[in-house]
Amino acid sequence: MTVRSSGSQPIQIEQDVVLARQTARKLAQECGMRLIDLTKLVTAVSELARNTMVYGGGGDMDWQILDENARTGLRLVFRDEGPGIPDIKLAMTDGWTSGSGLGLGLGLTGAKRLVEEFELETEPGKGTRITITRWT
Ligand SMILES: Nc1ncnc2c1ncn2[C@@H]1O[C@H](COP(=O)(O)OP(=O)(O)OP(=O)(O)O)[C@@H](O)[C@H]1O
Ligand SMILES: [Mg+2]
Repeated sequence: MTVRSSGSQPIQIEQDVVLARQTARKLAQECGMRLIDLTKLVTAVSELARNTMVYGGGGDMDWQILDENARTGLRLVFRDEGPGIPDIKLAMTDGWTSGSGLGLGLGLTGAKRLVEEFELETEPGKGTRITITRWT
């Protein structure tokens, strides 16, 4: 597997969530991803970028375009140095939210379903890192 290109951008404010979506869309197109897969990926990016901003107190999205034999992949990492997720199992339950109103608690589980690879690493007090990959 080789990294064709890579980059990073901040996720601090609402506008950065929009920019993260735009970057993901552009990169997915560059990978030659089918529209259906691109749409799924961009939806996952929305959810994860928003979590990074809201719960992580801001962070970054790193991206890589990967080449592996006949396939191309887009890998995105959402990382923050926020409070972390104390109970991953609970957080990965449909409908569970620590929020007190608007959140439906479907962001993480939804994002996981929309990509082929989903990895969640978190440490209380240190932060959270979620890596997603979609292949063409
Ligand atoms: N980056 C993060 N840092 C700390 N906690 C997080 C992070 N991302 C998610 N969480 C925790 O996991 C819970 C579940 O996240 P999820 O995105 O599934 O739901 P939500 O954000 O509460 O609601 P929704 O995404 O449906 O609006 C959140 O309520 C929050 O407690
Ligand atoms: Mg969410």
